[in-house]
Amino acid sequence: MLVLGIETSCDETAVALVEDGATVRANVVGSSVERHRPYGGVVPEIAARAHLELLLPVLDRALVEAGCVYDDVEGVAVTVGPGLVGALLVGVAAAKALALAHDLPLIGVNHLEGHVCATQLEYGPLEPPLLALIVSGGHTSLVLLDATGAFTPLGATIDDAAGEAYDKIGRFLGLPYPGGPEIDALARHGNPAAIAFPRALAGDGTYDFSLSGLKTAVVRELRRREAAGEDIDLADVAASFQEAVVDVQVTKTMAAAQAHDVERVTVVGGVAANSRLRERLSAACAVAGRRLLVPAPALCTDNGAMIAAAGWNRLAAGERTPLDVEVDPNLALSGVPTGAAPGAPA
Ligand code: KG4
Ligand code: ZN
Repeated sequence: MLVLGIETSCDETAVALVEDGATVRANVVGSSVERHRPYGGVVPEIAARAHLELLLPVLDRALVEAGCVYDDVEGVAVTVGPGLVGALLVGVAAAKALALAHDLPLIGVNHLEGHVCATQLEYGPLEPPLLALIVSGGHTSLVLLDATGAFTPLGATIDDAAGEAYDKIGRFLGLPYPGGPEIDALARHGNPAAIAFPRALAGDGTYDFSLSGLKTAVVRELRRREAAGEDIDLADVAASFQEAVVDVQVTKTMAAAQAHDVERVTVVGGVAANSRLRERLSAACAVAGRRLLVPAPALCTDNGAMIAAAGWNRLAAGERTPLDVEVDPNLALSGVPTGAAPGAPA
């Protein structure tokens, strides 16, 4: 079953065509990041306007790249939340129009479920139980996907999301938006042990995260060094900040995997593209005898393929979303249907 996936929850206008929830035939991302750059963050009105401009050309390009026409498409999956309301509305309106015009089943997808389902595009069926660290611009949480396909939240950030912290510190260091990939690149030239930044909530026994104190510590340390006339090596600051973030993420993920005796661990969302997080988690999983499933960076950041994959799971399980579905900017994670293995006939 060929599913068209549409993602417009934030600043990426993304469309993909995925066969049987497993094989990516096209995955096109049109980004409005340049338009947000002068403001140092995503401006919701600009994002919605950009989706309006970009969605039809991105749709056309995806069909061309996949070498198919609408007659070949068997279902339309679209992100219905969580995300920016105006941005979500553009994708959902387009998906409804396509479903109606081509008489196709519509399936509304939770953006975070989409991030988790990116894993199946590289590693095959999700096979719960699975522990997922979801780290993106708007979310940071540890969730357990149990054998019934339900998500149990184990912990989440109590203040900033991981991507948000990277972007804010990037801005403070004078790096272009988004700061995450910039800090990742700069940190490769720095010493992660140069500055001992705090590891908030590291040993508190919960699976919650807190990043606002770390942000303040970076700002204070730079101001102190400036005032003292000390040299500041930005690469060392980037590497030390990143190490503090990654340390806590790895410690909590491994502790949760052990406490819940989960063999498979996945890390998804835009921040899962971070090279240090990937390196450290993969080393920790190897030592603990657990299997780390981490999608390629292009499948970690927002894309349509992950939405098509999650949509396929639900369509193959017989679910349909009514055409009058509304977007939900705060949509909570519910679960994934089990028993529908990618590649199986619908
Ligand atoms: O999942 P995503 O593409 O969009 C949301 O759903 O939020 O995540 C975007 C976030 C941004 O904050 C960006 O800075 C961060 O992911 N990001 C990274 C890296 N690549 C993207 N953060 C750290 N290291 C990276 N390599
Ligand atoms: Zn995302």
